[in-house]
Amino acid sequence: MIFRRRIRAQIDDVLARDSSTDKAPSIFTHLRDSAELPAAEKTPQRLEDEAVLMTMAGTYSPMLSLIVAHYHLLTRPDIMTKLRAELDTRGPMPTAAELECLPYLSAVAQEAHRLTFGLTGRNARVCPDEPIVYKLKNKPGQSYVFPPGTSLSVSTLVIHTDESLFPNPWIFDPDRWVIATDVPADTETSATEGKKAEQDSASLLVSRRRRAMLSFVRGPRICIGRHLANAEIAVLLAVMARWDLELFETDEEDVKYKHDYHVMCPKLGSKGVRVKVKGRWNA
Ligand code: HEM
Repeated sequence: MIFRRRIRAQIDDVLARDSSTDKAPSIFTHLRDSAELPAAEKTPQRLEDEAVLMTMAGTYSPMLSLIVAHYHLLTRPDIMTKLRAELDTRGPMPTAAELECLPYLSAVAQEAHRLTFGLTGRNARVCPDEPIVYKLKNKPGQSYVFPPGTSLSVSTLVIHTDESLFPNPWIFDPDRWVIATDVPADTETSATEGKKAEQDSASLLVSRRRRAMLSFVRGPRICIGRHLANAEIAVLLAVMARWDLELFETDEEDVKYKHDYHVMCPKLGSKGVRVKVKGRWNA
């Protein structure tokens, strides 16, 4: 309640001002000033609900991916070593955009997203007035037709743990997302032919995995904060790798999917991933 009251006070403050007196423009000043939005979309209650959603969506979900990544980096020195080696190829102060381009760091983030499942509850979508036609890509001419009003949903849990895509699905393995490119594209000896074919099928699998990732869902309701979330996670992983940390009273139960509160929840009463800071990391 205190949380809601504080948010409402900020919304009331935005609505009491106009663009001439705004100190800091925000999403909510833009909503307030939008000529396209009808008045019903700008009531204090409507904006309060939007702000509550934004705050919760923008904090809990990135936090989950971060604790999962941190836990595994601290229990799997092999993964941390690879991440640090990649970070060493950058200068001392890389930007978030530079960090996001690092393949292994991105793979760590992606694997953390996979094992936090975005929304664990099924969010049903209903098209009220026309049928939805689902065309089968690999069987041209074949399709499924869902009549108007059909409730459609998908379980992220089932997809992200599909063994045909993610063998040993509960194991944290960033290498699932890495495409090896150690054979130069223009090399053509019989020895490299087989290796190339192997790489092609590995990259096909990675692209199938990418298509199966539903952490941020897909389509028109895709998470609007996904780029911010990935930038935050990239920066925080890079910062964390600079420190020599040791887990404190933390085990896998603190990061594992134990309960479905529409988002994944680890063991009840968990205090999160806690660490002892031993000092700066020196390679
Ligand atoms: C790892 C981090 C995040 C994950 C896994 C995540 C996941 C999701 C998912 C699955 C949805 C779609 C819900 C639906 O099916 O309707 C969603 C929507 C949304 N997310 Fe995120 N999110 C993350 C970070 C963020 C951040 C950082 C923000 C904002 C600062 C944010 C703001 C929102 C908002 C406002 C919506 C609702 C969009 C709409 O109404 O269409 N999210 N998010």
